[in-house]
Amino acid sequence: MLYDDYYVKSLIQTVEDWPKQGISFRDITPIFSDPKGMRMVVDAYVHRYMATDITHIACIDARGFLIAAVLAYELQKPLILVRKKGKLPGKTISQKYALEYGEAELEIQEGSVKAGDEVLLFDDLIATGGTLFAAIKLLTKQGANIKEVAAIIDLPDLGGSQKLRDSDIPVFSLCAYD
Ligand code: PRP
Ligand code: ADE
Ligand code: MG
Repeated sequence: MLYDDYYVKSLIQTVEDWPKQGISFRDITPIFSDPKGMRMVVDAYVHRYMATDITHIACIDARGFLIAAVLAYELQKPLILVRKKGKLPGKTISQKYALEYGEAELEIQEGSVKAGDEVLLFDDLIATGGTLFAAIKLLTKQGANIKEVAAIIDLPDLGGSQKLRDSDIPVFSLCAYD
């Protein structure tokens, strides 16, 4: 299905002052409850990544999981979960980070990626980039290369996508809000 920016944006709702005063929260929940919107979003990534040499898709807990799982299924690639602290069993490595409205810690299981892996890293939204940089640290510490970061929404005013590009990490987003 052809991507229609106007249609996808019509599904994204803005909730002011949530979860904190001063934050304009971009809520993607209605995309998931709209089969046409979901297909449009997934198809955009399928077309972008189907003829590339990515070997793995990594995705960030929690909203990043939803599209990435469907994409991994479609592209028949292994899906690597980057989870919030305390959710993954076995040996893990972790990384603290700050995001637009708080602080948290991400983890991956040791050995989930290795040198030579070409990873597409997926999250729903890029704000300050704190979350993605933490995930990138975890994946690159295990030897993987980040082929590209993909998101549904970029908030360029918060600087994350520019910081990623300044670090020579390619960034692809479907839409942006200034
Ligand atoms: C949100 C969003 C991104 C992150 C972006 O995650 O899903 O992962 O913030 O912010 P940043 O660029 O400033 O780091 P959050 O942890 O709030 O919630 P989630 O568990 O619902 O994904
Ligand atoms: N994560 C970080 N900032 C956000 C925002 N403004 N809306 C939705 N998710 C976010
Ligand atoms: Mg998130």
